[in-house]
Amino acid sequence: MRTTKPPTAGQPSADVKADSVRRTFSRADLAANQAALATGEIHLWLAPAQAGDGTEELVWSFLSGAERARAGKIRAGAGRAEFVQAHALIRAVLSQYRAVEPGAWRFGRGALGKPFITAPNDAPPLQFNLSHTRGLAVCVVTLALAAGVDVEWLEPHADLPAVAREFLAPAAVQELEILSRTEQTIRFYELWTMREARSKAAGTGLTAPVVENESGEDWRCWQQWLASNHILAAAVRGRPETPTVFRMRTVRWCPRTPAGSLEVCAPEQVVCVGPAGCAES
Ligand SMILES: CC(C)(COP(=O)(O)OP(=O)(O)OC[C@H]1O[C@@H](n2cnc3c(N)ncnc32)[C@H](O)[C@@H]1OP(=O)(O)O)[C@@H](O)C(=O)NCCC(=O)NCCS
Repeated sequence: MRTTKPPTAGQPSADVKADSVRRTFSRADLAANQAALATGEIHLWLAPAQAGDGTEELVWSFLSGAERARAGKIRAGAGRAEFVQAHALIRAVLSQYRAVEPGAWRFGRGALGKPFITAPNDAPPLQFNLSHTRGLAVCVVTLALAAGVDVEWLEPHADLPAVAREFLAPAAVQELEILSRTEQTIRFYELWTMREARSKAAGTGLTAPVVENESGEDWRCWQQWLASNHILAAAVRGRPETPTVFRMRTVRWCPRTPAGSLEVCAPEQVVCVGPAGCAES
């Protein structure tokens, strides 16, 4: 299913103060959240990730040694703040579902780099994926369903058609060719994020074509333009008969309460995707 809000001109900003619906997720919410993440539910968590507001320092202690080493190679500023906050976000979000401290999660990586949880061991296991760009971090969490998420910021580039020819399906390239420059840019990001979300769910990244309907499974997707001119897409593979519910929460770090608390800033959006699957292909 695709929900499109036409983008408007403007600088990237994941400012979520406007529709503030304040609620803090503390450890007391653990049981409720855990129960809410039923099989077939896909939870998306969005958080602004900006430099200079103290969040980087607040959540630094969540990161593993390897994550800190990676962060240390990024020049101080927006890029490093985004990396640190994105990786802290996935840890804090996973800790909403299990009584595990954010810093205690351990991750491994698949052959092509997809991260997965190695500890604690769970059945059914939590699955997650992460994307971050231009001041916004997004993570997706499911029970057992392999999930992928991508977020991009709308930015016109002269070489979008060439990128499309390299990475998108021929039908998508044809679709783009007949559009005006503005429509082409918007549609490119819709097709691109969906392609990337699926490839990240499959764990291949963009190195391999996405295999459709493998072993009787079907893609379930959600795509959304945000007021900040970001677009996000999330994808999971499920059994064709299984209804899927996407829930999207916009949060920000809560500086007052114990580190690891997230404050919900906007009404939760819920989209049910039935057996018809995705609108994009
Ligand atoms: C994975 C990939 C799609 C990420 O795209 P991107 O737009 O640059 O970045 P995003 O912000 O959307 O996602 C990055 C996150 O995806 C996750 N990720 C990395 N590899 C992944 C994979 N193969 N599948 C799913 N998720 C992956 C990580 O959490 C990563 O975060 P980090 O880089 O901060 O650790 C892209 O790097 C790619 O296609 N890679 C191909 C696979 C590859 O060549 N791997 C080489 C290492 S073995």
